Amino acid sequence: MGKMKRKTALIFGITGQDGSYLAELLLKKNYIIHGVKRRSSSANTERIDHIFDSFNFSNKNFFIHYGDISDGTSTLNIINKIKPNEIYNLAAQSHVRVSFDIPEYTADITALGALRILEAIKILKLKKTKYYQASSSEMYGLVKNRKSLNEKTPFHPRSVYGISKVFAYHATVHYREAYGIFASNGILFNHESPRRGPTFVTKKIVQGLVRIKKGLQKKLSLGNLYAVRDWGHAKDYAVSMWKILQHKKPDDWVIATNKDQTVKKFVDLVARKLDIKIIWKGKGIKEKGIDKKTGKVIVDVDSKHFRPTEVDFLRGDFSKARRNLKWKPAISTNDLINDMIEEELSVY
Ligand code: NAP
Ligand code: GDD
Repeated sequence: MGKMKRKTALIFGITGQDGSYLAELLLKKNYIIHGVKRRSSSANTERIDHIFDSFNFSNKNFFIHYGDISDGTSTLNIINKIKPNEIYNLAAQSHVRVSFDIPEYTADITALGALRILEAIKILKLKKTKYYQASSSEMYGLVKNRKSLNEKTPFHPRSVYGISKVFAYHATVHYREAYGIFASNGILFNHESPRRGPTFVTKKIVQGLVRIKKGLQKKLSLGNLYAVRDWGHAKDYAVSMWKILQHKKPDDWVIATNKDQTVKKFVDLVARKLDIKIIWKGKGIKEKGIDKKTGKVIVDVDSKHFRPTEVDFLRGDFSKARRNLKWKPAISTNDLINDMIEEELSVY
């Protein structure tokens, strides 16, 4: 029997939270991995340093290329050089709040970046290259009723980030229909991990409360405490990305846990694990979380963290993925929080 040819994957966004988990997974599956990294004046390979030798910039099965999806020709060049079996587009300006400050930039990277990759696959006539688009539950935006959202739920984005993801979603469907490219969307609901960027709310809460517990910080300032999110673990969600590209045909998939929590509940859950009891007082901008033991305010609300338009509720119905991809989340919210706290405690 002849040896199976090893698969090659190209990951845009390799230095991000999801890129690092996906790279770990694909290395285990014996893939040859190529990742695209942006030039930065400070180190930005922290999340992959355990699997990539960034000092010598070389590894046997793992290669990094400088690139940027705002740069169409270099993006096309990288794809042409590698001609990968699978392309995962995880690159984005991924912060919703920040997209209100830099909308044009966000659209350039998050919307047009995806288009540039799809165009490259088309121009190069890479019939065998499969494309994964990191679509987002943020596309649903304003939802009519608090039911779990699925692949048929209409989109009503509430930020330029969300609008850009809707563009990239439709570009993916369009290149599939118009040019026969194997292009799929994973509509992923929020997913977190110890590697989550520090300005996303879960990481901010875990980091803040651990630092308060250690006496390194006095309080944690948050925005809307009543937003509801469906939070999963990024490690589980990386598996879904791979499964989406192994399915017999390209399609669009909701990936979620179908459980939800408010931001405030997440604060309480983390606090309880750190043996902090929070008493909540006041309403709206004046709401405060007081440490029962010390009587001190440790959580307050700061309007600068509010968004001009908010996505109040997200909970995903992943029954299509469960049925056809045999995917379901393996890590509970409880274990996600334990994982995040454990890592944070090890920092100090
Ligand atoms: P992340 O940690 O912010 O990672 C984003 C990645 O994109 C980083 O590697 C970043 O590089 C890279 N990037 C940014 N601009 C780029 C550019 N112009 N050219 C090339 N690369 C660029 O985000 P994540 O949480 O891993 O999410 C991965 C993807 O899934 C994103 O597209 C995000 O929008 C989407 N998504 C995330 C979630 C979630 O809850 N995490 C849910 C749904 C969809 P640097 O490291 O240099 O910044
Ligand atoms: N970041 C942040 N900081 N969010 C806060 C804060 C705060 O201090 N206080 C309250 N929130 C609320 C936000 O208003 C939002 O409703 C919720 O917490 C979650 O915010 P983020 O963690 O910033 O995530 P997001 O839901 O806006 O976006 C993430 O999930 C999307 C999928 O739905 C990002 O990962 C996106 O890239 C992703 O597409």
